[in-house]
Amino acid sequence: MIDRIEEARAAALAAFAAASSLAGLEEARIEYLGQKGRFHDLMKALGALNPQERPRAGAAANRARGQAAQAYEAARGALEKAAARVEWLDVTLPGRRPVLGHRHILSRTAAEICAIFGRLGFSIVEGPEVETDYYNFEALNFPRDHPARDMQDTLFVSSDILLRTHTSPMQVRIMEKSPPPVWVVVPGKTYRRDSDVSHSPMFHQVEGLAVDQGLTFADLKGVLTAFATAMFSPDTQIRLRPSFFPFTEPSAEVDIACVLCRGRGCRLCKGTGWLEILGSGMVDPAVYGFVGYDPARVSGFAFGMGIERVAMLKYGLEDIRLFYESDLRFLTQF
Ligand code: DAH
Repeated sequence: MIDRIEEARAAALAAFAAASSLAGLEEARIEYLGQKGRFHDLMKALGALNPQERPRAGAAANRARGQAAQAYEAARGALEKAAARVEWLDVTLPGRRPVLGHRHILSRTAAEICAIFGRLGFSIVEGPEVETDYYNFEALNFPRDHPARDMQDTLFVSSDILLRTHTSPMQVRIMEKSPPPVWVVVPGKTYRRDSDVSHSPMFHQVEGLAVDQGLTFADLKGVLTAFATAMFSPDTQIRLRPSFFPFTEPSAEVDIACVLCRGRGCRLCKGTGWLEILGSGMVDPAVYGFVGYDPARVSGFAFGMGIERVAMLKYGLEDIRLFYESDLRFLTQF
């Protein structure tokens, strides 16, 4: 009897160790430890032994069955672990693509604007967003208490310090620092106390300034035509409307033919056929007085445009707030 027990124990241990799948292990379990398995038969056979033999054989059978049960549990644990590992390492799954960002549409538009002027010979410079009253207004020929200041909805830091309302102060800073000729564009953030679907308290402009010998209004018109056709489409028409800015004389607001209806009149251009894109003009001699340039020897033109406005016209966007909400449904379209 002891031999039969030992034989069953060894066979059970071997079968559990050899099982290579949970299903195979379960078959072995039923064969040895199941309700009709070999250990069950052995236990039944104990009843037929004589009373002297029975206790020893009974103890041996219990021990053997315990060892077999332990071996079974160990084999099951190992197989379950291996199964989990295999699932985690499923090499047939497609890889997870990391989400790649890209430059914001406003940065791209600013870069595109600057690149166009770069090809026309302008350099790119940047300046401070926190400005003094002097650079933002005074030296641009906005005297204190001049009504032209009202249009700028200024955010003041103190009575003399403010958040620049336009990029034009850099005209003064550049001319102060370097003698003519000057050909620069200035991209950057600007601030005004204004907020609705087409205005944001923080927005972006690109300023342009060219001061050289013999520059005329025709140069201004030529440069802006070259810009508009490069930025929008080769057949883009522009028109200049008389306007007023304290730092340019004469001044003009520049429109492009409506990008939607091409001049016929629609909802976007409010029936006029034209869309305003920038302010411009010939640098006012009064400004040269602030920077030590001689208006008898140099002349020049300047212009300033909103980057949001250019992007909204180019891509047909109707709400400026989309630029700042970081909504990927919007941002990933560009
Ligand atoms: N700085 C003006 C504004 O923000 C725009 C402007 C007009 C800029 C005429 C210029 C210019 O350089 O010549 O309203």
